[in-house]
Amino acid sequence: MNQALPPVVTTCSELTATIRRWKQQGRSIAVAPTMGALHEGHLSLVRAASSACDKVVATLFVNPSQFAPGEDLEKYPRTLQADLQKLGTLNTDLVFAPSEKEMYPPGFSTTVLPPALAMPLEGELRPGHFSGVATVVLKLLNLVQADEAFFGQKDFQQAAVIRAMVRDLNVPVQINVMPTVRESDGLAMSSRNAYLSAADRQRALALHRSLQAAQTLVTAGESSRTVIINRMRQEFDREQIHEIDYIELADPDTLLPVETVTPPTVALLAAKVGETRLIDNQILT
Ligand code: PAF
Repeated sequence: MNQALPPVVTTCSELTATIRRWKQQGRSIAVAPTMGALHEGHLSLVRAASSACDKVVATLFVNPSQFAPGEDLEKYPRTLQADLQKLGTLNTDLVFAPSEKEMYPPGFSTTVLPPALAMPLEGELRPGHFSGVATVVLKLLNLVQADEAFFGQKDFQQAAVIRAMVRDLNVPVQINVMPTVRESDGLAMSSRNAYLSAADRQRALALHRSLQAAQTLVTAGESSRTVIINRMRQEFDREQIHEIDYIELADPDTLLPVETVTPPTVALLAAKVGETRLIDNQILT
């Protein structure tokens, strides 16, 4: 039997009209913003959204402004039909899949200067990235007028930046961050995993193993940053992954590096495996 696809709108005015109707009916609204190429991680956001609110909007938009020049904007997977089929199996009341011109019409020039949390780590390595994320997320939150919004913990710093933006700019929405969904061998689900060759897919397990090694040391009572980071690095060395952007142990609220690990500390990683840049993180408890 063919799965019914969810209704799709591509313009801000169509989206706004539906939202207005739902608001008049007194419905609560949740949004799960995504860039498409949906995997179980995204679907977990939509499931959580549908448990939280009466109506669920999923957004599918590969946001050019969060890709720095030379990044993978052109090759980023675009799988609209498959995404709609997946969303059709869940309680998705509306999909917003705008074009680039709809989101950034000629003359568009306002951007969000992201909070201090956006400076280190990804912010340092991907200049402009969080301004692009914050701008598009604020636009989506303004359009959907959601009571609750759902993001994944895999993008830990992104979630922290969005929380801070929503707090600082008084955006009336509750931000929920859902746990990272992993493959059975531990690899964090990511749309970019599709780029990995079979061999690199195996080597990429170093990220999760490195986080597990950190947790094992902390559980055993280790608190030295140097000892823990050196142990984490061994997992990358073993797989001959040399392009490590960062291995960091940070305060989960400020994202500032910690010298002594006192839980909760967040371990954050970014590395290039073959041609694919991957990130992962874990709160050390
Ligand atoms: O996490 C993502 O997929 C994107 O950064 C987001 C939040 C949809 C903004 O484009």
